[in-house]
Amino acid sequence: MAASSRRRVLVGCTGSVATIKLPQLVDTLRQNNLEVRVVVTERAKHFLKDAQLSPEIQVLSDTVEWAAWQDRGDPVLHIDLVKWADVFVIAPLDANTLGKIASGICDNIVTCVARAWDPTKPLLFCPAMNTKMWEHPVTMPQVSLLKSWGYKEVHCVSKTLMCGDTGMGGMAEVDTIVRFTLRALNPWSDPPDDYP
Ligand SMILES: Cc1cc2nc3c(=O)[nH]c(=O)nc-3n(C[C@H](O)[C@H](O)[C@H](O)COP(=O)(O)O)c2cc1C
Repeated sequence: MAASSRRRVLVGCTGSVATIKLPQLVDTLRQNNLEVRVVVTERAKHFLKDAQLSPEIQVLSDTVEWAAWQDRGDPVLHIDLVKWADVFVIAPLDANTLGKIASGICDNIVTCVARAWDPTKPLLFCPAMNTKMWEHPVTMPQVSLLKSWGYKEVHCVSKTLMCGDTGMGGMAEVDTIVRFTLRALNPWSDPPDDYP
């Protein structure tokens, strides 16, 4: 992978409808002089069918990862991405992948990156799910576990969700996610008021 002096953000997307915000997130990160790569789950792809992503952004998925490895000596993409990135931002993090990461399951490129993540580098996660999922008793212990590993939660918000329900579980605004990302990359800068 080509060298660059810009800080490198790896964005992970999962099967939440909030994945439709990926183009806005990528554009805003790039406007802040950050280099961006994207990894997605198979379910996330469904929400990117009509996405207007910059042609420079390759969406990396299991299909790309498995096609890239044919023989000994070939790159193992999820490991290369862990080495490449300065920060991993999982936005949105759906209930399924939250549970997988909390359990150590790594059965796709997003969860493999998370499982192999270098704990000296920041990892931000942005939960996004229906209010009933968010309020289920399994959710908070999983969120707390990720935070106990030093991962930063970008809090979800209360709003009218895509399913029509109103309540907690909406993904944080893109501007909030970008502010948190910049803060994670520059720990000596003034933190945003809501930074955990
Ligand atoms: C239209 C649609 C929207 C969905 N939105 C969400 C969501 O916002 N949050 C969530 O946790 N799950 C959501 N789901 C369920 C996930 O897509 C499902 O759990 C899937 O298995 C997640 O796979 P992944 O974690 O590998 O991406 C949605 C499902 C559908 C069909």
